Amino acid sequence: MQRRQFIRSSCTLCVGIGAGISAITLLQGCVAVPVYKTKPQSKNLVIPETQFLENKLVLVRTPQLDFDILLVKDEADKFHALYMQCSHQNQPLTATNDGLFCASHGSRFDLDGKVQKAPASKELQRFPTYYEKPNIFIQLS
Ligand code: FES
Repeated sequence: MQRRQFIRSSCTLCVGIGAGISAITLLQGCVAVPVYKTKPQSKNLVIPETQFLENKLVLVRTPQLDFDILLVKDEADKFHALYMQCSHQNQPLTATNDGLFCASHGSRFDLDGKVQKAPASKELQRFPTYYEKPNIFIQLS
């Protein structure tokens, strides 16, 4: 695990407590979300389904975007992708198994990207996805 990846996946508890979320709440959802790094292929990000063998969440990181994408497995062959940019003032979000939160002003979102706690009022941006065995495709445009 690279240093940057370790810091992002390990600091959920510290950032969440700073944002006013109780430590118990975070510990319940505190599992490091794996990071998958990739580059676009014909405007798609291609993620092997093997990334979901033990997880229902994967952070997708590409140098073409300022923020990660949270790829969520809904069912066996159904996925959705959320851009991890807070809809309040465009800060990065942190993902847990229970949802996403923003350390800047405390907004929280569920895993569908809907606002659970203000000050954010808009849901998170989604990217279209589709599944063609054995890969998940995230369409960037
Ligand atoms: S930027 Fe996320 S709550 Fe303000």
